[in-house]
Amino acid sequence: MGVQPISAGRRRRFARRVVAWYALNGRDLPWRKTTDPYAIVVSEILLQQTQVRRVIPFYERFLSTYPTVEALARAPLEEIRQVTDPLGYKVRGRWLKEMALEVAEARSGYFPRTLPELRRLKGVGRYTAGAVMSFAFHEDAPILDTNVARVLTRYFGLQQARRPALWALAGDVIPRGEAHRLNQALMDLGAMVCVARRPRCSTCPVQRGCVTTAGSPPAAARRRRRAAASGRSRSRSPQS
Ligand code: ADE
Repeated sequence: MGVQPISAGRRRRFARRVVAWYALNGRDLPWRKTTDPYAIVVSEILLQQTQVRRVIPFYERFLSTYPTVEALARAPLEEIRQVTDPLGYKVRGRWLKEMALEVAEARSGYFPRTLPELRRLKGVGRYTAGAVMSFAFHEDAPILDTNVARVLTRYFGLQQARRPALWALAGDVIPRGEAHRLNQALMDLGAMVCVARRPRCSTCPVQRGCVTTAGSPPAAARRRRRAAASGRSRSRSPQS
């Protein structure tokens, strides 16, 4: 299903509140202190399939071992894998090495600056290309991971929407020049407030205007409410 047109005003209000919330509540993460596309690609490849908390020490160790794309391109794969394999998802070492060879040798150390070219790098899909475009180059490219998709789906009431429609919306909600902030903000909102189970709607900056909070609450909240109504909740979860 496509997405019904969402007014520019509604998109703008949503983005403004999410970005304002992020300015006060965003996580202090090491890859947010740089606009180096190499560091951003490294962070995003390490973050694939892996929790933020686990990635932080690996990211720091990786960049102090291989501070530039040239240093990584020169390093033997076996040595790179000693740094990345303990994080799991073991294809990462090879992807990073191949990405580095491509950039350092075929592109003289310059990262591509367009989505299609970035996506030709090993390990870089649509999401990671959007992350590099927005976080490194401050271009208004969208990102859509499970957190961002959940926030957009709930706020705009798009439970039936397919991925392409959500990608389009993730682009349409970006105020001009703000993708680097909005994308991080949406990720944090999805990771900290609009979480999959038991979303913390009472602390959400966009609770007002959220179709799902106002209309049909997320499944977990519905279940809790039903359980409370039938008197089962106290015996099952005494702390809640
Ligand atoms: N998960 C994937 N990419 C991320 C990023 N840049 N910040 C926080 N969490 C992420």
